[in-house]
Amino acid sequence: MKRAAYQRPRAGLLAACVAIALLGFGCDQVDVQLPSYHKGYQPVQPINYSHKLHAGDLGIDCKYCHFGAEKSKHAGVPPVNVCMNCHKLVKTDSPEIKKIHKAYESGESIKWVRIHKLPDFVVFDHSRHVNRGVACQTCHGKIQNMEVVKQANTLAMGWCVNCHRDYKANPPAHLKDKNLNPSLDCSGCHH
Ligand code: HEC
Ligand code: HEC
Ligand code: HEC
Ligand code: HEC
Ligand code: HEC
Repeated sequence: MKRAAYQRPRAGLLAACVAIALLGFGCDQVDVQLPSYHKGYQPVQPINYSHKLHAGDLGIDCKYCHFGAEKSKHAGVPPVNVCMNCHKLVKTDSPEIKKIHKAYESGESIKWVRIHKLPDFVVFDHSRHVNRGVACQTCHGKIQNMEVVKQANTLAMGWCVNCHRDYKANPPAHLKDKNLNPSLDCSGCHH
């Protein structure tokens, strides 16, 4: 499946939201619901890499590979040398592992197909969520059970805003003492 061109939401609800914002309210006054964008997007990757095997069965921590998640905007996809930490020795006769060795020796990166992607006018930062205790799976689903990654949520504005509103009003039990106060202001997510 090819990624469809970025679709603009039907005008109605957003126009209402903008109009209400101009009157001095925020999105907390409106139940925002927008289309499902790329929910369910599950492209074929250049190497048959399995999260179920690595993050599930082998129990490798998400942040061992996605080491940007705690420190920066992007969680990032791991460079080849992270794979080589093990695959220099592990299963070197496999044709899939040979692809890793080939990339490593030629100094090229593996051309993983990007799955989750917000439009440029949205501000999103992994560290601001991960360091406040929001688990990867809350947004990405049970990745540790997936052979092939599939986008679990819409990443639409309504999805972001609804969670910000819920976590402010009624945070999950394990985050109650953190006094979470995610922003509902337009400028929190748009510059
Ligand atoms: C051994 C390294 C490794 C571990 C451990 C790992 N990942 Fe990944 N992850 C990758 C690679 C490589 C890709 C790119 C290929 C793919 O999409 O499968 C990826 C892709 C992803 C993507 C999709 C990125 C995109 O393009 O949008 C998400 C989300 C993700 N991982 C989350 C997780 C979570 C959550 C965990 C822990 C439960 C985890 N990963 C553990 C290596 C890893
Ligand atoms: C912490 C060690 C470790 C890291 C890091 C790691 N792997 Fe693995 N990987 C393994 C083990 C163990 C197996 C299972 C080998 C077996 O079946 O005996 C495996 C199996 C695989 C297989 C299946 C090979 C086959 O033919 O059965 C692929 C493909 C693979 N890994 C890709 C990757 C990629 C890509 C990365 C980097 C993003 C990566 N691995 C990082 C340990 C690791
Ligand atoms: C609050 C929701 C949320 C949480 C929590 C979250 N992510 Fe993401 N993730 C996203 C969104 C939204 C994107 C798309 C970001 C973009 O396009 O800038 C994304 C993108 C990614 C990507 C693609 C590359 C990148 O960095 O943009 C990877 C890999 C990823 N996430 C892994 C993780 C891992 C691992 C964790 C936990 C340590 C995690 N995410 C926690 C929402 C989340
Ligand atoms: C599962 C709930 C959840 C989802 C989904 C979510 N967020 Fe958040 N967001 C939070 C929490 C919790 C914080 C931390 C608030 C704090 O530090 O008090 C936060 C913080 C932020 C911040 C930092 C500034 C602030 O408001 O505190 C931005 C910007 C942000 N989120 C944008 C987004 C965007 C854009 C999306 C959708 C693509 C999104 N978030 C999806 C829960 C979520
Ligand atoms: C918690 C984060 C968040 C907040 C708060 C937020 N937005 Fe958004 N907004 C997004 C995300 C993510 C998108 C992109 C996905 C989509 O279009 O649904 C978006 C998309 C939009 C778009 C669509 C642009 C287009 O061309 O498709 C408009 C307009 C917009 N927002 C206006 C607003 C206004 C006005 C407010 C304040 C009332 C607001 N947003 C508050 C996250 C947020």
